Amino acid sequence: MILVTGGAGYIGSHTNKELHKRGYQTVVYDNLVYGHKESVKWGTLEIGDLSDKERLESVFKNYPIEAVIHFAAYAYVGESVTEPAKYYNNNVCNTINLLDIMRKYNVNYIIFSSTCATYGIPEKMPITEDMPQNPVNPYGATKKMVERILEDYYKAYGLHYCCLRYFNAAGADPDGEIGESHTPETHLIPLILDAASGKRESISIFGTDYPTEDGTCIRDYIHVTDLAEAHIRALEYLKQGGESTCFNLGNGNGDSVQHVIEVVKQVTGKEFIVKEEKRRAGDPPMLIGSAEKAEKILGWKPQYKEIGTIVEHAWKWHEKKMY
Ligand code: UFG
Repeated sequence: MILVTGGAGYIGSHTNKELHKRGYQTVVYDNLVYGHKESVKWGTLEIGDLSDKERLESVFKNYPIEAVIHFAAYAYVGESVTEPAKYYNNNVCNTINLLDIMRKYNVNYIIFSSTCATYGIPEKMPITEDMPQNPVNPYGATKKMVERILEDYYKAYGLHYCCLRYFNAAGADPDGEIGESHTPETHLIPLILDAASGKRESISIFGTDYPTEDGTCIRDYIHVTDLAEAHIRALEYLKQGGESTCFNLGNGNGDSVQHVIEVVKQVTGKEFIVKEEKRRAGDPPMLIGSAEKAEKILGWKPQYKEIGTIVEHAWKWHEKKMY
């Protein structure tokens, strides 16, 4: 049985679904602060916080857990700057609680949700795993710290890990059963879809004077179901004796904010107001990942590479989403 912390969240719920499709049994541990119980349509949901060691330990006592996929974390970059304590406590201290209980119960495999935000503002594109990690915000710093903790726990205690550094997770389950639903929402694609559906008056472009072709930021949007697939491959790789390591998970494609807005207009057939605003603090002009290592070692290849497909799936979910 696989323990999925944060399995009621966006990427966690999609991974939980893929695990079930592959015949795995899961238990989701989630405090439902940002997650949705409606997204846990597979396996068992145990509501709890990672800071509650007794509650967490009871899950290890009650289920035959063989590995952990650890998504539970706070992930608002802006908030991490104004409330770093919240981020260091939850993302770092509470992860240590989890790791120590794993050691106690002899659970020796963990797949960890990391991020391209650990690279900060990279000098070269595409980003490869060996490039320097200099996060520019506390959120990225917490993820980098956990990566280091995992490396040390592996060396000292034999706890095997894969860190998966996601680029911009996007899209939704192609079957439309689950999708992205953040409150507050800060991510580009769901915000544009809100403008397309009339839930918002407009969409703002944060910065049109970047050194890119159309002046807007470029990101590597990666379909959430492709991310889910990578977690399963990473888990199987570790269980087959693969070496503990980190992988970038991106498309290798860059799409500008302006282009994503155009694609949303095409896919939805809707018109809406687009405003040009100042840059948002801390946004790198361009983030594109090389996922060559994941392809070579895990045999992982994104299936939904086209931004049009990613937006189509997100729109399908957006139109029917109830929460
Ligand atoms: N953007 C806008 N208008 C908006 C919202 C976003 O122009 O209303 C722009 C941003 O400036 C950025 C791009 O759209 O250039 C993407 O922004 P998102 O907030 O969707 O995503 P980020 O690239 O800022 O952040 C994502 C994840 C983080 C992760 C980070 C790594 O949300 O969790 O990638 O860089 F840390």
